[in-house]
Amino acid sequence: MDRPWVYIHEIENHNGEEIELKGWLANKRSSGKVVFLIIRDGTGFIQVTAFVGGNLSKEQLDEIRKVSLESAVVVQGKVRKEERAPGGYELELTSFQLVSEAMDYPIQKQEHSVDYLMEYRHLWLRSRKQHALLRIRNEVMMGIHDFLQGRGFTLLDSPILTPAACEGTSTLFELQYFDIGKAYLSQSGQLYMEAGAMAFGKVYCLAPTFRAEKSKTRRHLTEFWMLEPEVAYNDWQDNMRLQEDLVSSVVHRVLEKCLLELAALERDTKPLENIRPPFPRISYGEAIDILERKGSPAQWGDDFGGDEETLISEEFGRPVFIHHYPAKIKAFYMQPDPENPQLVLNDDLIAPEGYGEIIGGSQRIHDYALLEKRLEENHLPREAFEWYLDLRRYGTVPQSGFGLGVERTVAWIAGIKHIREAIPFPRQIYRIYP
Ligand code: 4AD
Ligand code: MG
Repeated sequence: MDRPWVYIHEIENHNGEEIELKGWLANKRSSGKVVFLIIRDGTGFIQVTAFVGGNLSKEQLDEIRKVSLESAVVVQGKVRKEERAPGGYELELTSFQLVSEAMDYPIQKQEHSVDYLMEYRHLWLRSRKQHALLRIRNEVMMGIHDFLQGRGFTLLDSPILTPAACEGTSTLFELQYFDIGKAYLSQSGQLYMEAGAMAFGKVYCLAPTFRAEKSKTRRHLTEFWMLEPEVAYNDWQDNMRLQEDLVSSVVHRVLEKCLLELAALERDTKPLENIRPPFPRISYGEAIDILERKGSPAQWGDDFGGDEETLISEEFGRPVFIHHYPAKIKAFYMQPDPENPQLVLNDDLIAPEGYGEIIGGSQRIHDYALLEKRLEENHLPREAFEWYLDLRRYGTVPQSGFGLGVERTVAWIAGIKHIREAIPFPRQIYRIYP
């Protein structure tokens, strides 16, 4: 019988109708005379109930009982509202067609280790939680674009192959670039965005970023995606306002559009609901005071790791800015505080619930001579930065920008422990397969 092909995400428009779904068998269970199938079609999951009667014979039902998990199937049936079902609807089966029978599926109902599941990442993506997470990632990405486009930003793509470091030479991935010599995978598109800001005023890139990080923490990947906006004439305080507006907007978009996904992940959404600007702001010095009070061994001049960030953020229960770090633990391009040049006009945004730094941002050095001095002090090869110095030669202005780690942001909003699940195919020191 010809039935209209419908996707699960639009099923609510077809209540009471006979329709066709094209997908895969995600799960099944039998209960006496009824077989419950969970069918997924990429846009969602739905329960399909099958029992003898109407168009289904006992023989057909016995065949359906035997179909292996992840077989490709096309089913027809009648859409029925069902309050208790996760999507609010189920299908009463009238016809079942096997498109291709799956071999023994390596991911079964029993618990597998994450290591095992990562070996099968290409299949694990189909499971409900992974699917939910990556739908949330999609919404975070689109939320970023919509927010910035709405504010008149231009998307300006940064190169991945670069001639020099941006964030310190210890985490560079190096490669041989024809006869020219060494090239590196980009650690940050920032320097290119600075050129963009002078040409377009407000720009951003949203691109893969590479760090040969030796860290095996739950917050580090060797390949991650970073959003980097850059704005001419913005000072460090304008910069923080942009960050809190963006982050709040993205959080609320996910809350609005990803109800089913957040529920599938069992995310407690309360801590997200009251995320609104302005976020609290503390200086690095005040952060050190908090840490001292809480018995942390951290001392003035130390950089913060996950433990320190968690201790600090516990005080606030929502994202908190830490600004004015010591210059010596931050990147070469950050503008010193005119009142205390030991400090820089930067900020890190620390997410609550132990997720740590999701943004690093700063006002940039706009003075030619000072920038030249900083490049020297950091032993950065001048030839590779001539173009960057040009930006200070020709119409230099104060400017600010920041980098938001997409996977850390997704992990926080979705409430998952490790950021490796917040990207479709994670790259870590000990993993490059599949
Ligand atoms: O603080 P970072 O290193 O800042 C920059 O790269 C600046 N150039 C950004 C800018 O001002 N345009 O990195 C920014 C963010 C971090 O806050 C973190 O969220 C994420 O990028 N990040 C990582 N995410 C996953 N794995 C890693 N190894 C990461 N390193 C940084
Ligand atoms: Mg940082």
